[in-house]
Amino acid sequence: MMIRRFELPSFMGHRGAAALAPENTLPGLDAAANAGCGWVEVDVMLSKDGVPVLHHDHSLRRTAGDDRQLSKLTAEELGRLDVGAHFGSAFAGTPIPTLAEALARMAELGLTPNLELKPASGTEKKTTEAAIEVLRASWPDNLPTPMLSSFRRECLETALRRQPDYLRALIAEHVPDDWHRLLDTLDCVALNVSKNHLTVHRAEAIRGAGYGLGIYTVNDPVDAQKFRRWGADCIITDAPDRIAEALSRPLP
Ligand code: G3P
Ligand code: MG
Repeated sequence: MMIRRFELPSFMGHRGAAALAPENTLPGLDAAANAGCGWVEVDVMLSKDGVPVLHHDHSLRRTAGDDRQLSKLTAEELGRLDVGAHFGSAFAGTPIPTLAEALARMAELGLTPNLELKPASGTEKKTTEAAIEVLRASWPDNLPTPMLSSFRRECLETALRRQPDYLRALIAEHVPDDWHRLLDTLDCVALNVSKNHLTVHRAEAIRGAGYGLGIYTVNDPVDAQKFRRWGADCIITDAPDRIAEALSRPLP
């Protein structure tokens, strides 16, 4: 397929702005906007009753102190959990938002969504279709085109079939050997890769092939400048306040 050249933002908030407020919450979106983000990455999962909600882990233990799996609770039950207290008492009582609630807040704040689809195993298609349905119903046409990203190829295949005009990015911990073929087949605008295993040669090859390159999760300003020198377009960060400041300075 033809590469759709697309200019990624120089940085985006990760899980909202996970160093500044509880991850994947509405206060996290507020914090990202306050820190100067134009874009924000959040994780999307499906509740028991098929409602897309924002959360990273399949278990609720880390964020809510509850041993159940997110997929076993309805959206209403998830909305009664507290995923703010673990971050700090100032955020106690913060609930898990639905994707619809999060998109409404993003639209108000002028944030463009990068929705990372994190399906429970076997629900790749269902999760992607549900997220697209919510976007169609609630993301205003006059706002910038949303991005759907995933580690799971089946999610991106479904997104390509169902809503080809939304932007797509493949996420990878290790850049796969067949990255070029995958990005081409899935008609992605970008590859979002872990900072842990990227090499400068791979970064140059990806950029040289015309794809955007995002790096997660970069919270150290010195690292951010290094990856920019390597040609990365977008730093995906928990600490957009610090990274924005570092990227505003000339590269050493
Ligand atoms: O979207 C990139 C990044 O969020 C992937 O890692 O585990 O933080 O969702 P994770
Ligand atoms: Mg993520």
